Amino acid sequence: MMSSGETDRFPAAKQLVEERLVVWYFVAALTYLLISMLGGILVGLQLIHYNPFAGIELMAPGRWRMVHTNAIAYGFLANGFLGALHWAVPRLTLFPVASRKLSYFIFAAWQVVVLCTAGAIILGPSLQTAPWVADLAKEYGISMSLGAQGLEWGETPFWIDPLALVGLALVAFNFFVPITRVKGPMYVTLWYFMAAFVWTFLTYAMGNLMSEYTVAGTSAGAIAGLFIHDLVGLFVTPLGWGLMYYFVPILLKRPIWSHGLSLVGFWGLAFFYPLNGIHHFLYTPIPMFLQYGAVIATIAVELVVTTVIINFIGTIWGRGREAFENLPVRYFYCGMLYYFITCAQCALQVTLTFQKLIHFTDWVVGHAHLVMFGVFSMWIFGMMTYLFPRLLGRDWYSTKLCEWHFWLSASGVLVMAIDLGLAGVFQGYFWAALLPWDVSVDGSQPFWIARMLAGLSMFAGLLCFLWNLWMTWQAGEETSTQAAPAV
Ligand code: HEM
Repeated sequence: MMSSGETDRFPAAKQLVEERLVVWYFVAALTYLLISMLGGILVGLQLIHYNPFAGIELMAPGRWRMVHTNAIAYGFLANGFLGALHWAVPRLTLFPVASRKLSYFIFAAWQVVVLCTAGAIILGPSLQTAPWVADLAKEYGISMSLGAQGLEWGETPFWIDPLALVGLALVAFNFFVPITRVKGPMYVTLWYFMAAFVWTFLTYAMGNLMSEYTVAGTSAGAIAGLFIHDLVGLFVTPLGWGLMYYFVPILLKRPIWSHGLSLVGFWGLAFFYPLNGIHHFLYTPIPMFLQYGAVIATIAVELVVTTVIINFIGTIWGRGREAFENLPVRYFYCGMLYYFITCAQCALQVTLTFQKLIHFTDWVVGHAHLVMFGVFSMWIFGMMTYLFPRLLGRDWYSTKLCEWHFWLSASGVLVMAIDLGLAGVFQGYFWAALLPWDVSVDGSQPFWIARMLAGLSMFAGLLCFLWNLWMTWQAGEETSTQAAPAV
């Protein structure tokens, strides 16, 4: 917990934040990240013809690919963000969450949602074909899907969706109470958080209920595109940027460069991002006017993102050394650099000319890793690196291991993104030349082997972090020399 010196200086901070819960959220997040990465490694090994679990149904790479992406989104990112929110919102508003008991309930309910989804993905297809399930279905004349839903990031089975929605509504309530008690102008972080709570609930309901029950055909495609893009843009992005607007000024001990520009970024995101979804489905039977609309909205988002990046460059201007010397700040700015590269990729991807080449190729997978790991995971690692010593009241066991974590992660994901980007261009040309499918699969092998090495580097980074955390936790009495400001 917080060091005694710090508590004396800022007695209110201790009462505001339920620090034990922040630790729980972070530990849960790291556990899911570990499992998810192992799933990614399994799928990557399958693609280079080395599956250590070949023939074991429950370890089928198809199922673990779904666990890999689902557990990243709802297990790692959601838990990581919820932990950081429990730290940031009370400190920023100077009011505690609506109810600490509710916070613990949400924590438990959320783990049930993530674990049931993983269980449904892994066990569902096996249960579905089990003779006793078939007999029961025949006897009662019912047929229902026990497994996961077939929509990326919308896999949560229908019987767990209501719990997830209740959980998201309660998260919104729990944080809205302190936020609405704030008097006077509201800092941009809180704008982002409030929007994220509403948008995440709506996006989740749209993707999990509409695609399951109300739409089909190309409409379902349009909704699926909207859903998956909005999850990135209206759940992960506002929480990520909102937290950056909180942590960066605190760590640099100077205000954000331009409050006005930060609001341009927020409202630009709110207005243009929801219109982007169909850019995932260019060249599909979805009407062309919708596809063009998505292209134009994507270009608008590019401009909005540029304003946000400029604002953060302005904030660190003249103190650039801190991006090298202060590890959490380095994580944050490295994530921003990768964010900018991802957006530059987007500018290419969204043109119909380039789409013709890279559609359905590994370019997209490289892009997904760069944004999910290179940006948002790096930000969460930065927050954890900064907060764990304050939460545990102990300095890091080894700053060298912290450095290893950073460099193995930052270099691993960059190599993976470049490698898969190149793989995508090669695959696109193989297909455009109408060569047999096998040629593109064989031609991808060197890239898939390189992807494994990059993935193992990222995984080694995580192991360094986990070992460091374990050793820090094991250290005897509280030794932290770090003092955290009250807000
Ligand atoms: C040990 C490191 C990792 C390895 C080896 C790995 C490998 C893979 C593989 C093989 C796929 C399937 C690609 C395909 O369908 O062709 C995949 C998909 C994906 N991975 Fe990972 N992954 C790793 C870590 C991560 C992390 C840490 C994140 C996020 C923080 C992540 C996010 C994703 C996403 C979003 C997709 C879906 C891409 C898409 O559908 O376009 N991965 N990964």
